[in-house]
Amino acid sequence: MTQARFPEHRLRRLRRTPALRRLVAETQLAPASLIAPVFVTLKKKQEPVPSMPGIHRLPIAQTVAEAKQLAKLGVGGILLFGIPAAKNPEGTGAYAANGVIPQAVKAIKKAVPELVVITDVCLCEYTSHGHCGLLGTVPRRSRGLSPWIDNDATLEILNQIALSHARAGADCVAPSAMMDGQVGAIRGTLDENGCEQVPIMSYSAKYASSLYGPFREAVDSAPQFGDRRGYQMDPPNVEEALREVALDIQEGTDIVMVKPALAYLDVVRAVKEKFKWPTACYQVSGEYALIKAASAKKWVDEKRLVMEMAVACRRAGADLIITYYAHALAQWLSERE
Ligand code: PBG
Ligand code: ZN
Repeated sequence: MTQARFPEHRLRRLRRTPALRRLVAETQLAPASLIAPVFVTLKKKQEPVPSMPGIHRLPIAQTVAEAKQLAKLGVGGILLFGIPAAKNPEGTGAYAANGVIPQAVKAIKKAVPELVVITDVCLCEYTSHGHCGLLGTVPRRSRGLSPWIDNDATLEILNQIALSHARAGADCVAPSAMMDGQVGAIRGTLDENGCEQVPIMSYSAKYASSLYGPFREAVDSAPQFGDRRGYQMDPPNVEEALREVALDIQEGTDIVMVKPALAYLDVVRAVKEKFKWPTACYQVSGEYALIKAASAKKWVDEKRLVMEMAVACRRAGADLIITYYAHALAQWLSERE
């Protein structure tokens, strides 16, 4: 590299045509490494999510139809978030054997067995207070403090949720509650119950981000008081992300995840370089909403921007990308110039 000089070298030579650019592209983007999140409802009609144009809460039948299309496009997997019929403080709808997720998993695996079905394992979609765990008894010391979420009691519930999903036939479970020890607890429970072949994709470095708003509208999970900063990670930290990932790997996770994506690609890079473990990043609802809003005004070219951001995730070191654009991206990739 140090010997290379103009005019013998003209780096523009390899940029001249689409064919040349494709030939020397250092990073590949393929539908197989995309995962599509889907919001599943027990209602019979689909409902639009206002802050996520193009995204709906889907009844089970339509979730199956979407799964078929995703599989046809070669998308790697689907990540299911359930919206229960009713919420309560303990989030008991999260582990009902005939709950929304077990029903959806069974229906998808029956119709599209080749698609990897991953389930979100958390309480916030199911609790009336919207937190990712059970409320503890420690009194809140002052207004504005994050509420105390009882870590170890929550683990018991997460175990039950993961087991109910695995028993329904989920190909992979994805704990997102950011409780300490959640991976180890779930791994142990799955192993003790004959589900030792079910992998875990853990939300290892999940930050307390302002980019989750549209998701919370989609599943009606905004915390009714306080916020999630007592369990999700603080944005300034990256060494802590490496500790989170190290612990998850020790506890038996199969795939680690960094979330959100765009503002945390340095974390993706650091995690991939240090651990060389299957690594996912999650382009979250707020990222989707930002792109949609600017595209609607024609301030950006939606397709090119989405491709650019996805390839940036891959370049940073992500093997897998979880994105609400998975369906559209796979379509675009199939019709590439
Ligand atoms: C919570 C959870 C969140 C998302 C998925 N599961 C974040 C949160 O509400 O704190 C966000 C996904 C997105 O924004 O797309 N377990
Ligand atoms: Zn949660």
